[in-house]
Amino acid sequence: MAVVSIINQKGGVAKTTTALNVAASWAEQGKKVLLIDLDPQSSATKAIFSDREFEKTIFDVVIGQADIQDVIVHSEEFNIDVIPAEIMLSGIDMQLAAHFGREQILRKKLEPIHRKYDAILIDCSPSLGLMTINALLASKDIIIPICPEYFSMKGIELILATLRNIRSGLGYKIGVRGVVITRFRDRRVVNEVIQQVKERYDLKVYRNFIPDNIAVEEAHHHHLPVLKHAPRSRAAKAYKQLSKELWG
Ligand SMILES: Nc1ncnc2c1ncn2[C@@H]1O[C@H](COP(=O)(O)OP(=O)(O)OP(=O)(O)O)[C@@H](O)[C@H]1O
Ligand SMILES: [Mg+2]
Repeated sequence: MAVVSIINQKGGVAKTTTALNVAASWAEQGKKVLLIDLDPQSSATKAIFSDREFEKTIFDVVIGQADIQDVIVHSEEFNIDVIPAEIMLSGIDMQLAAHFGREQILRKKLEPIHRKYDAILIDCSPSLGLMTINALLASKDIIIPICPEYFSMKGIELILATLRNIRSGLGYKIGVRGVVITRFRDRRVVNEVIQQVKERYDLKVYRNFIPDNIAVEEAHHHHLPVLKHAPRSRAAKAYKQLSKELWG
C-alpha cells in the first residue's frame, strides 16, 4: 500500500487532473484506490461529484468531529473511493494553530484504513500550508506535476527545501517519486525542462508526458475520467501509460 501526495504549490499545473486520472486508471487496472481531496477549492470533489453536498468532509475528520470511515464516498464513474473536501478547510491553519501535533493529524487518521487500499492518492492545494504538510507527513513519497510552459526552478526548490525541513525537524524521510510533465505543447521546451530538472535536482522525470488536450477539460465538465470520456484521446492514452509507469 502506498500513500502518494500530488504536490506543487504552483497553481494550475494539473495536480487535480493527474490525481483524478491516475486514480481512475489504477482502478481500471484492478487496484483499490482512495482519493483524498485536501484542497479547500474542492476541485477534485467537484470534478467527480458535481454540485453534490456532503454533510461531512475531510475537514470534519481533521478537526476531530467525524470518523474517517464515515466520510468515505464511492464514485461509480471513477470506480474509486473518495474523501471530499470543502471550503471550510481554508481556515484550518488558524483553527489548529494551538493544536499539539497538528502536522501529523492526517497520518494518524489514515493508519486504520491503510490496509483497505492498494493506493491512497492525496490531491493537495497550491500552497505549502498546514494541510499540505499533513499530506507530506502521511505520504511515503510525492509526485510533482510541472507544466513546462510555466516551469519555475524556484517552485521545485521550495518543495525540496520543505522535504529537507521535515526531515531535520520531524525526522521523516519523504522521497520524490518523480516529476510528471503535464499540459505540454512544445517538445523542445519539454526537453529543456527535463534537462534542467535532471541536472540540478537529480529527480526522475516520467517518460509519459501529458499533452495539452481539450479532452481533459471536457472530461471534467462531464464528471468523468478522461479515459472514460474520450478513451482514444491523446490525454487518455498518456494518462493510461503514465499510471502504469507510476505503479512500476
Ligand atoms: N492535459 C491537459 N490539457 C488541457 N487542459 C488541462 C490539462 N491538464 C489540466 N488541464 C486544465 O488546466 C486547469 C488546471 O488543472 P488542474 O485543476 O488539474 O490543476 P491544479 O494544479 O490542480 O490547479 P490548482 O493549483 O488550482 O489546484 C483545469 O482547467 C484543467 O482542466
Ligand atoms: Mg487542484
